[in-house]
Amino acid sequence: MCGIFGYVTNKEEALGPILISAAERLTYRGYDSVGAATLNNGKIDLRKDVGKVDSVAAKYNIAEMRGQRGITQLRWATFGEPSQINSQPHLDSDGDLVGAHNGNVVNNVELRQEFMAEGMTVRSQNDGETCVHAVERYINRGYEFIDAIRLAYGDLQGDYAFVIGRANDDKLYAFKKGSGMVVGLGEGFTCLSSDLPSILPLTRNVIRPQDGEIVTLWADRVEIRSVKDGKLIERQPELVTETMDAVQKGGFAHFMLKEIHEQPQVARELLHLLDGSPEVEHVIEKMKSADHLYLIGCGTSYHAASVGSVFFAQLAGRAAIPVLAPQFIAQYAPAVGHDDVGIFVSQSGETKDVLNALEAAEKRSMSCFGLANVVGSTLTKATSFCLPLCCGYEISVPATKTFTNQVVTFLYLAYRLAGKDTSELLRIPELMEQTIEMVGPQIEAIAKDINKWNDMYCLGYGATYPIALEGALKLKEITYAHCEGMLSTEFKHGPLSAVSKGFPIVFVAGPNDVPLIISGINEVKVRGARTITIAEEDARLRSNGDDLVVIPRSDPQISALLGVLPLQLLSYHMSVMRGFDPDFPRNLSKTLTVD
Ligand code: AGP
Repeated sequence: MCGIFGYVTNKEEALGPILISAAERLTYRGYDSVGAATLNNGKIDLRKDVGKVDSVAAKYNIAEMRGQRGITQLRWATFGEPSQINSQPHLDSDGDLVGAHNGNVVNNVELRQEFMAEGMTVRSQNDGETCVHAVERYINRGYEFIDAIRLAYGDLQGDYAFVIGRANDDKLYAFKKGSGMVVGLGEGFTCLSSDLPSILPLTRNVIRPQDGEIVTLWADRVEIRSVKDGKLIERQPELVTETMDAVQKGGFAHFMLKEIHEQPQVARELLHLLDGSPEVEHVIEKMKSADHLYLIGCGTSYHAASVGSVFFAQLAGRAAIPVLAPQFIAQYAPAVGHDDVGIFVSQSGETKDVLNALEAAEKRSMSCFGLANVVGSTLTKATSFCLPLCCGYEISVPATKTFTNQVVTFLYLAYRLAGKDTSELLRIPELMEQTIEMVGPQIEAIAKDINKWNDMYCLGYGATYPIALEGALKLKEITYAHCEGMLSTEFKHGPLSAVSKGFPIVFVAGPNDVPLIISGINEVKVRGARTITIAEEDARLRSNGDDLVVIPRSDPQISALLGVLPLQLLSYHMSVMRGFDPDFPRNLSKTLTVD
């Protein structure tokens, strides 16, 4: 979400076309507004608005913009509604600094108040403007530019990348915290961007700045200094040799694998965003006072809703009804009313089944909120407030990072409903990283072992029941094998008869459910099944089943979330071993706009 691009050359030239092309290459990140600024001989030309790159470029004739330096930004609204004033780049109070960021500055609200109290002109609600004023503050106090940036860096909390320039200068300055940033060195120019694909058509000579570093870009060189002591840091450029396709996949073989590995970072960004969002409070209040609370979605989004409903009950004693969107119309819509609340969950925000359910709910005056990934989608516009998932584009048809961020959102809401300290959730990204690292080779070996089977089961209980459903859906979707997800205790009520020697059954066990899961394991093992259990380290599970796939120790809710990562990897490897393309499984579409 959001993207920045900066360009420095040695003389005034037509920068508009370069900025438009760079903006177009950033569009895959998702956005709702576009802006461009050029700097030349003490003047700044700034043009920006809500809309697509081509329409904003045409409306403001961005192609004609000239300058010695240029910045473009695509914004995906988080702080402040999508509007011209909140679009980026932003000016400082006097209009001689201009800057743009991507990511989230989580102390935006507090800093804006401080800046206004200090007499600065704050024009928007956007945290990109906050980054500009954070530098302006120290310039006003008489600091040199680099020192002003070093001090601003300390004030800005969150995950972001930021570029800034001043009118009377020949350079751009950039720094980042948590988010990505790449600097390019070309013939007679330098540039920087939130990601590699947007600068690769210009140059393959790149430097990757780290957190805590300030980059100064001249037309013919870049300089990196440490935020801590201002000292110069030596870094040689690297030559990128991969194809554009490989670069877009970030070095991974498929988008699905890249998106699986992106989960810790998008979860981190989402948690920071939720903590800084004043609108979340409104949703919480409505949920608290709701007569009945419904969580509505399809496919993977429905599974996330189902995990959410377990979290709400377990942590906050709040009953919530998860329901597949078309069934909501038949089963609940005739009975809902003004005092009920529905959260409509959809990655795409365009799923027709979900939009139909929303229409049915609105006819009954139910309060409707959204939870969507694609900004500007129908769901984001049709609900009074739509929480963002902050995953950027999810390209592979099987949903992975959007699922985990849906679950993280529900866990965050459950914590807020329960009055629990949400800072406890900040350990989730690291636990996800550990999980991916811990299970990787073992899951690949298991995938190889069970890949001959075209029929299997995935079982869970409590919060891991919908996780098992999600694992089974992933396996079906990209291996074309049959895998049924089920409540573990239900297996003995019929499916047990399917078990034969070596028949693979995956269990996902929450830390509090081990004895119950062991009963299930023993029931199938004595009949010849091969069991694979995903759980925290537990001697009882180790001695009762076959494979134990160990995930890090956490708590019952976070453990359920972590349990889906091995299942995503299992389905990915089985799909690839079968010779299929997991990104684009046959017969399926990422966005289902039909009944
Ligand atoms: C997930 O892997 C699937 N591609 C599918 O089940 C999907 O979750 C479902 O179609 C709903 O899509 P949505 O989240 O965009 O509404």
